[in-house]
Amino acid sequence: MKKIGIIGAGRLGICLALNLERVGYSIVAIDSSENRVQQINTKQLMVEEPSVENYLSESTNLRASADVKELSRNEIDFIFVCVPTPSLENGKYDHSYILTCVDELLKHGNPKNQVDLVINSTTMPGFCDQLQTQLKDTNYTVSYNPEFIAQGSIIRDQQFPDQVLIGEANPDSGKRISEVYKKMCPDNPEIHRMSRTSAEITKLGINCFLTTKIAFANSIGDLSQKMGAEYEKVLASIGSDTRIGNAYLNYGFGFGGPCLPRDNRALAKAGEEHGIELHISNATNKANASHLDFQFAEYANSPEPIVFDQVTYKGGTDIIEESQYLALAVRLMQSGKKVIIKASDNVIVQVKELYGDNFTYEGN
Ligand SMILES: NC(=O)c1ccc[n+]([C@@H]2O[C@H](COP(=O)([O-])OP(=O)(O)OC[C@H]3O[C@@H](n4cnc5c(N)ncnc54)[C@H](O)[C@@H]3O)[C@@H](O)[C@H]2O)c1
Repeated sequence: MKKIGIIGAGRLGICLALNLERVGYSIVAIDSSENRVQQINTKQLMVEEPSVENYLSESTNLRASADVKELSRNEIDFIFVCVPTPSLENGKYDHSYILTCVDELLKHGNPKNQVDLVINSTTMPGFCDQLQTQLKDTNYTVSYNPEFIAQGSIIRDQQFPDQVLIGEANPDSGKRISEVYKKMCPDNPEIHRMSRTSAEITKLGINCFLTTKIAFANSIGDLSQKMGAEYEKVLASIGSDTRIGNAYLNYGFGFGGPCLPRDNRALAKAGEEHGIELHISNATNKANASHLDFQFAEYANSPEPIVFDQVTYKGGTDIIEESQYLALAVRLMQSGKKVIIKASDNVIVQVKELYGDNFTYEGN
């Protein structure tokens, strides 16, 4: 049975581990959090993500450890890296967690045979090439393989992706990564193999395009509202043009969450560093902010308390990071409105930590 290592068993990594385990791989998952390791090994992990608890309880070939040495001890030659890459203030990704993992791997020596290091974490264009250069005297090869998944459907999205994107270290590594996905994805998705930097640009480019569609739909919707036009019909018609498509072309809240805004800013930053101004990324960010202003103006004169049934960045998750729902609630609260937030206990705890009793909370 082929063994696969996964470093970082967080939201993304644990799902990948479980999906791969289900199709017959033996998984060693490394996570620096002893607590998470214990929860995985005792099958007590509790997360919002659908299917994770089920798949974990049914798993028989998944073992977690906090010690990266387990990978060399088990002679694992295929490792996915799914550690965080937080955003720096300037919009770039911080790669220090990936570098720490690599340092930890190197502490256990250079592997005898080639080991595929497959970076799933989102990186700045050019980073994976730099990492490969850093590892040139070792048997580690670096490939980039980001995932296009949404919080709340990670397990499913990994099984049924629109495409598999591979920035390959070399054709053999690309082939090995492709084989893993052919086994994991029953619908035989398109596989796009290219250089590492190409794949890094593609990953950010796809998410930037999505933010563009969302921001565009909201701008058209705001104009329609202002002019008493029928925004739903307008957008449905625009989206029915096959060159455009309906996906992500709805009127609603702006884009938020832990992926789209960060990828959009990172792409703009990558452009800036190479003398190319990514006008679209920057305009999309501005449009998202203007849409919030429009929404705020709509409610600003309401004499009634304003009720938010959701403050997470989208339904079905407990993530409030860069949520446009919460941003609007905060703007209204700060302007003196009474704002009632209806949310799960987990979400209320997070909002309270930031805003205390400035909101009225109701459990749901
Ligand atoms: N979650 C998503 O939907 C999603 C989607 C696309 C891309 N990504 C990218 O995937 C990466 C991981 O995201 P996530 O949401 O799973 O993050 P996360 O914070 O949920 O999980 C990261 C895990 O890595 C562990 N970790 C940190 N340093 C480590 C180390 N040195 N060794 C071993 N384990 C370590 C943490 O304990 C944590 O469990 C990020 O780059 C993110 O941008 C995530």
